[in-house]
Amino acid sequence: MSYDPPRPILVSSSAASDVVKRQVGALFNGVGAAQGREIQRVAVEESRLGIPVLLAADVIHGMRTVFPIPLGEAASFEPALAERTARATAVEATAAGLHWTFAPAVDIARDQRWGRGAEGAGEDTVLGCAFAEARVRGFQGPDLRAADSLLATPKHFAAYGAVAAGMDYNYVEISEGTLQDVHLPPFKAAFDAGALTVMTAFNDINGVPASANHALLTGLLRGHWDFPGLVVSDYTADMELIAHGYAEDERDATRRAFTAGMDMSMQSGFYAAHLPGLVESGEVPMALLDASVRRVLSLKAAIGLLDDPYRSLDPSREDDISRLEAHETLARDAGRRSIVLLKNESDVLPLRRDARIALVGPFARDRDNIEGCWTLFGDKSRYISLEEGFRAALPHAGSLEIVDGCGLESPLEGGIEAAVAAARRAEVVVLALGEPQRYSGEAQSRTRIVLPAAQQVLAEAVSATGTPVVVLLRNGRALALEGAVRDARAIVVTWFLGSQTGHAVADVVFGDYSPSGRLPVSFPHDSGQQPFFYNHPRTGRPETPEMSEFKARWREHPNTALYPFGHGLGYGRIEYGATTVDMAKLPVSDVLTVRATLRNHGTRAVEEVVQLYVHDRVASRVRPVRELKGFRKLMLQPGESQEVVFRLAPAQLAFTRADGTHGSEPGGFDVWIAPSAMAGVPARFELLPR
Ligand code: GLC
Repeated sequence: MSYDPPRPILVSSSAASDVVKRQVGALFNGVGAAQGREIQRVAVEESRLGIPVLLAADVIHGMRTVFPIPLGEAASFEPALAERTARATAVEATAAGLHWTFAPAVDIARDQRWGRGAEGAGEDTVLGCAFAEARVRGFQGPDLRAADSLLATPKHFAAYGAVAAGMDYNYVEISEGTLQDVHLPPFKAAFDAGALTVMTAFNDINGVPASANHALLTGLLRGHWDFPGLVVSDYTADMELIAHGYAEDERDATRRAFTAGMDMSMQSGFYAAHLPGLVESGEVPMALLDASVRRVLSLKAAIGLLDDPYRSLDPSREDDISRLEAHETLARDAGRRSIVLLKNESDVLPLRRDARIALVGPFARDRDNIEGCWTLFGDKSRYISLEEGFRAALPHAGSLEIVDGCGLESPLEGGIEAAVAAARRAEVVVLALGEPQRYSGEAQSRTRIVLPAAQQVLAEAVSATGTPVVVLLRNGRALALEGAVRDARAIVVTWFLGSQTGHAVADVVFGDYSPSGRLPVSFPHDSGQQPFFYNHPRTGRPETPEMSEFKARWREHPNTALYPFGHGLGYGRIEYGATTVDMAKLPVSDVLTVRATLRNHGTRAVEEVVQLYVHDRVASRVRPVRELKGFRKLMLQPGESQEVVFRLAPAQLAFTRADGTHGSEPGGFDVWIAPSAMAGVPARFELLPR
């Protein structure tokens, strides 16, 4: 199989002169080992001090081989899978001459109107921590000095996912407890996994921009967490201090950002322009500059650049396509493991290969919305569309009829009629619907998280024929499903799965793989419920099955999820036995053992994501109705029973208490081993006082 060479974004000759004239220390989004070598040669041989430059890019979920968007991969509930895809990405990215990627995004996204949830691991902190550390380990590998080690950058520090109303770049008003307990832990997990850089966020935190937030960048990061690495701005975040109304002018912005703890300015040019004068005037102490320079040089030393400036810059490695075959196989496996089956009435899935199938919708043939957001270097020649995946899976092409039906966002002349006719000829319709990939990612906040109207019209028309409908969703966020889409026989969430989309989806649709993904974000009844997240605090008027009048709910809907966090079906029948605990009273010095027995009553082996939840019944601050504390994906053979055991330590019950300290509090707890955030019957235990 021939591959297109990576399309290097030529590093302009001005970049080379910048390295010399303006002492640029790092360049980003230029790729190509040969270009990188030339830039490095200029840096080493022609610049004043001969210090090698760092070459970086946004390689978020794949380089030439594109893997599922991070939110989709989080649905696998398999951090080890994310580590493997990050490792493969690092192999390809370093072969293309990169030392550093601006990933993983570890923002916790509780408002699906925000478009950048697609880049993270969803709404839960425990899941977010697991994927943050896995991706850092995957990108960096075991040896930072290895040619295929890629520096990771957990971003965006901090609380970027908490932007008000889910509007990107908006202000952030947040309690200290929510900041500490929800949004910060994934960064700490990334640092504990070895991340040596961090990127600041565009947003403020309670009025102080994150990029000039001394309490965050120095107090917490250096003082409390003892982070030894480098802080880089997101793009022009230092320049934006002026627009925030937090800095008078460029010089003031430079002083505020640098003295707060930002070591490297990515894009504004302010540091080159204003730092020398600020140091000469004494407004920036030389000691602060020395400390920052030391961190930049230490980072370059840590990855071996000072010993070998041409590390990773080997054009011969760049064209070795043997790796890419292996990465395609991984991409297909990652794709199918990320797929979530929300609904499967009458076991309409998996489909028979000899069934007459109408594949209908704007994503049926689409190859332009395969990647998802933040894919800059994917090799499009290797992408597999739904059509290609389905045709490869079906022995008789005649059993498959493909009709677009409508455009991504607009009707097609005669599209509905053609789709209805095809539906009438078919035994089953597979409706390939979703968001265009430009609907998620940066600066893509939406007021209504629904399908484009033209697609909903198509769905209604096709469903009216009475032919059973299976909906395939392509999406970068949770969606509010409506009408015929919500009422379809089966609903499959396929996110953006990357290079191997068509094969991964076909593997699930035709039963070669039993879907094992679970929702990392709640699917609401309606957009108006946002921000909606499963682990919301209790209220004084919780709705109960008996009583919904004058309770915390909407006129139109209960304030619950249509499909909750953690939900997903497979092609088995898994029964959960009762959750039990080994002690009713848990001393703080002990560990609770929680058990449940699962049984597969189905006829095929399936993977199940078993989830451990707790609820702190009474505390000094109102606590979430449920919190994920552990998860495990396991295989159950037909008829097999398996006892699942979780260990729960009192430290896992800690939170930021009303007095601002962090720790657990004695009292009663509910605990579940369950298949989602809304399922199961809890056991109870009491945490004893110290
Ligand atoms: C963008 C994004 C950030 C990215 C950076 C460099 O604005 O916020 O995630 O890494 O700029 O492209």
